[in-house]
Amino acid sequence: MIPSLETARLKLRPYSETDITELVPLIGTREVAATTLRIPHPYTEQDAKDFLVLLRDPAKIWLAITLRNDERQIGGVGLRVDEQHQHAELGYWLGARYWGKGYATEAAREMLRYGFEDLRLHRIFASHFKHNPASGRILMKLGMRHEGCQREHLRKWDQFVDSELYGILRRDWEQDGEVRE
Ligand SMILES: CC(C)(COP(=O)(O)OP(=O)(O)OC[C@H]1O[C@@H](n2cnc3c(N)ncnc32)[C@H](O)[C@@H]1OP(=O)(O)O)[C@@H](O)C(=O)NCCC(=O)NCCS
Repeated sequence: MIPSLETARLKLRPYSETDITELVPLIGTREVAATTLRIPHPYTEQDAKDFLVLLRDPAKIWLAITLRNDERQIGGVGLRVDEQHQHAELGYWLGARYWGKGYATEAAREMLRYGFEDLRLHRIFASHFKHNPASGRILMKLGMRHEGCQREHLRKWDQFVDSELYGILRRDWEQDGEVRE
């Protein structure tokens, strides 16, 4: 079942057809697409519909990030689960006007908790383009370890780009929790 999760300022909840109108302009700016791998640009209503179809796959747990006070959509966060290895890839994005307020860290931290506590995953990993240091900072704040740079591993808009890989194991996460308490 797709969860609804809450943090101090955010509600992370499943997408529905009625989100498309708000989603398209939010995700559709060049800044959001530029540092992500799978967000098309320009982003059309059909892209949003295709995205909702992809989410029928239970391995793809993508949630809308909304503000708790007015339910406005501000971005998305997700885990792509591989059951066989009990691991998942974490991803996130925010509409540009919501950057710099700690929202991505807050949403991603809750997804990590959900992945380890509720899904009982063994490992969660993420990667970011080298030219997106804000994302690296988020992953460090989550307690992930920098595992290496995959040189020119990805092709984005006809350029080969370095991909920085980060990961965390459940035992690291549990230990971090003990330190925090
Ligand atoms: C990357 C992104 C999610 C960051 O969202 P955000 O809500 O602004 O992130 P947060 O505020 O939670 O944390 C960002 C951290 O990076 C830091 N940061 C911002 N710009 C930075 C830069 N150029 N270099 C280094 N650190 C930077 C911030 O200071 C903050 O760290 P701090 O809390 O220690 O001060 C957002 O810019 C975005 O959606 N970008 C487009 C999509 C994308 O790149 N998604 C990630 C793909 S891997």
